[in-house]
Amino acid sequence: MSATPLEVPRKITPPLLLVKKAHHEKIVCLTANDYPLARILDEAGLDLLLVGDSLAMTRLGYDSTLPITVPEMLVHLKAARRAVTRALLVADMPFGSYQVDVKTALESALVLVKEGGAEAIKLEGGRAYVRHVERLVSAGIPVMGHIGLLPQSVRVMGGYKVQGKTSESAETLLRDALALQRAGAFAVVLEGMAQEVAREITEALEIPTIGIGAGVHCDGQILVTEDLLDLGFSRKPRFARQYLNLTQLISNAVRQFKQDCVTESFPSHDESYHSDHASDPVTAAKQHADR
Ligand code: KIV
Repeated sequence: MSATPLEVPRKITPPLLLVKKAHHEKIVCLTANDYPLARILDEAGLDLLLVGDSLAMTRLGYDSTLPITVPEMLVHLKAARRAVTRALLVADMPFGSYQVDVKTALESALVLVKEGGAEAIKLEGGRAYVRHVERLVSAGIPVMGHIGLLPQSVRVMGGYKVQGKTSESAETLLRDALALQRAGAFAVVLEGMAQEVAREITEALEIPTIGIGAGVHCDGQILVTEDLLDLGFSRKPRFARQYLNLTQLISNAVRQFKQDCVTESFPSHDESYHSDHASDPVTAAKQHADR
C-alpha cells in the first residue's frame, strides 16, 4: 500500500490512517457510546471513535462483554452516529454476531453499517478470522482487527491476561497481525501485550497498530473513555490513565442537589416562573423591573 502526503481533510478515513502511520503521526482514538460524549470527543479532534462492546460493562452493567447484542449496540452506535462528523466511526461486532460463519458475519456487519451508520467495523481474533475479514472487505466494509488480550475470549484465556510474554506467543501474535493485514484490515488493535511485542508488530506492518495496554510504540492509542474519565464502577486496568474522577464529581453534585432541595435553597426565585398576578413584593418588584 503506497502512502502519498495528503492535505489533512476534515473527515478521517481508513486510507488517511495509513498516511498518518507513514508520516509517524500518532493516531488518537477513544470509545464513544452516546451522543454528548461522542460529540465532545469528535469536536476535540480525535481520529477514530469506537463504539466498543466494552459499553456492555461500562454502561450496561454486564459483568463481561459477552452478553451484549447487535440491537443493544445499535442504540449506542446510532447515538454516536448523530454526533460524529469528523472522526472515523468504528463499531465493534459483539460476541455471537460473527463467530458462527462468514455469512453471519457479513449480515451482522451490514446491519451495523446500514442501520447504525458505522464507517468500519472491528472484530476480535487473528488467523481464525481471515476469511471473515476478506469477505467483509470485498463487500466494501473496512475492517479493523483486534489481537492480544481478547475480552470476548475471556473464558478461554482464563481471565484478562497479558499476552505475548513468551517468544512462542509473541510469534503467534505477529503471524496473526500479518494475516489480518494480508486479508485487507486497515488497522489492528493490539490489546494487553508486552510492549516489545507490540513494537515488533508495529514495525512489521504497513497498516497502523492501535495500542491499549500495549506500550508507547504503537502507531496510535485507544482507551475506554469511561476509564479515562473514571466514570462508573468497572475495574480500571493499570494501563488506563485517569484524567478525571467523574464518578466522584457526579456524586458530589447530586449530593449537593439533594441538600439544596431539602433546605429549599433550590429552586431559587430566579429558577422559578411567576404569575402576573403575584402578590408578594419581591416578585412584583422583579416583574416591574423586567418590563
Ligand atoms: O470494546 C472496546 O472498548 C475495545 C477497546 C479496544 C477499546 O475493544
